[in-house]
Amino acid sequence: MRIILFTGKGGVGKTSVSAATAVRCSDLGYKTIVMSTDPAHSLGDSFNMEIGDKPKRLKEDLFGLEIDVHEELSRNWGKIQSFIKKNLVAVAKFNDLVAEEFAVFPGMEELFSLLRLKGFHDKGEYDVALLDCSPTASTMRMLSFPDIAGWYMEKFFHIERRIMKMVRPVLNPMIEVELPNDEVYGTIEVLYQNIDGVKEILCDDKVSSMRLVMNPEKMVYKESQRAYSYLNLFGFPVDAVVVNRVFPPEAGHYLRKWNDIQSKYLKEIEESFSPLPILRSSFREVEMVGMERLREMARELYGDRDPTEVFVSERPVKLTQHNGSCCLSLHLPTANEKDLELSMYKNELIIRLGSYKRNVLLPRAIADRKLVKAAFEGKRLNITFGGRKDGEGR
Ligand SMILES: Nc1ncnc2c1ncn2[C@@H]1O[C@H](COP(=O)(O)OP(=O)(O)O)[C@@H](O)[C@H]1O
Ligand SMILES: [Mg+2]
Repeated sequence: MRIILFTGKGGVGKTSVSAATAVRCSDLGYKTIVMSTDPAHSLGDSFNMEIGDKPKRLKEDLFGLEIDVHEELSRNWGKIQSFIKKNLVAVAKFNDLVAEEFAVFPGMEELFSLLRLKGFHDKGEYDVALLDCSPTASTMRMLSFPDIAGWYMEKFFHIERRIMKMVRPVLNPMIEVELPNDEVYGTIEVLYQNIDGVKEILCDDKVSSMRLVMNPEKMVYKESQRAYSYLNLFGFPVDAVVVNRVFPPEAGHYLRKWNDIQSKYLKEIEESFSPLPILRSSFREVEMVGMERLREMARELYGDRDPTEVFVSERPVKLTQHNGSCCLSLHLPTANEKDLELSMYKNELIIRLGSYKRNVLLPRAIADRKLVKAAFEGKRLNITFGGRKDGEGR
């Protein structure tokens, strides 16, 4: 199964682009499911049809699903949540409502939606699954959650289980903490394995791709740049950028200024995201509602291309870490050390290679490190960062 996730700032067109891609995939004969994890569902509005928590057939080879995140949460986390809640109330004297909030971690609700995706993947029921994600910040929390959950579960539950078993007879009568029973542990273990499985699927670039949806405007573009840097940090493959709501040049006098503003940001988007392909869609006179309009949008975005293609042959940006240093590896169109110019502006790394310019926003963890070495290996430029610059009065 091929999986494509669409994320971006609120209102940029994630739902429309996901729906349009879905129509195109099913027209090509792929059995397709398009699902939304944004609690503010609007997939149904896009198709002008009712969609619910069970896959609904929208046309031949096309199914829609609006995931009920609260339902997923209670199914997967309900038992563990009541266990944590009970202890918070009994031991830490939390009030009921606060305890309930504390027993759910940020990103968790949406993460469980991904378990549905894993279910489809494991069953091989569909050829393509398209995910209309919630706005960027929640998507980042959702995608970083497997790492946090892994840490939490190993350090908190597994190790503690062994310790608790050893000390149970002494400890139990003295404090009121109820020990998790095997049922709770069983749930945690299954969940842990599934979450790990989700991460594995989403990081496999032959299976999954993330596509960043944006508009050519400053705030939207900056947020996408940050999202891109974090997706690279966590190792999620991004294979395209979608620029939606581009005003056509013939839009008329009233929009002329907007044409100029958008051209400026389109250029910056190219500099920040190349060699990712930039798929464009123009601002329409009407809302993107209904199968036919979505089909048109897809035609504009993909032309004759198959949306299920993996659009980049190798990852444009890779981040690795070993022995305390970090390596940022970039795929560049040419390898010519002589023309290479590197400079830093705040947390942005600016790369010039002859007439080619590229801006890379560095994650905070790297931005305050010293740049130690830059060298080409084939067409990849590997930049090594050493220790932190702390104390150097930056
Ligand atoms: N290219 C476009 N031209 C005109 N209207 C659009 C375009 N793309 C999206 N819209 C409209 O903008 C609104 C927000 O789009 P939507 O896809 O729901 O964004 P998101 O899911 O990112 O919040 C919707 O009313 C949609 O119909
Ligand atoms: Mg939406």
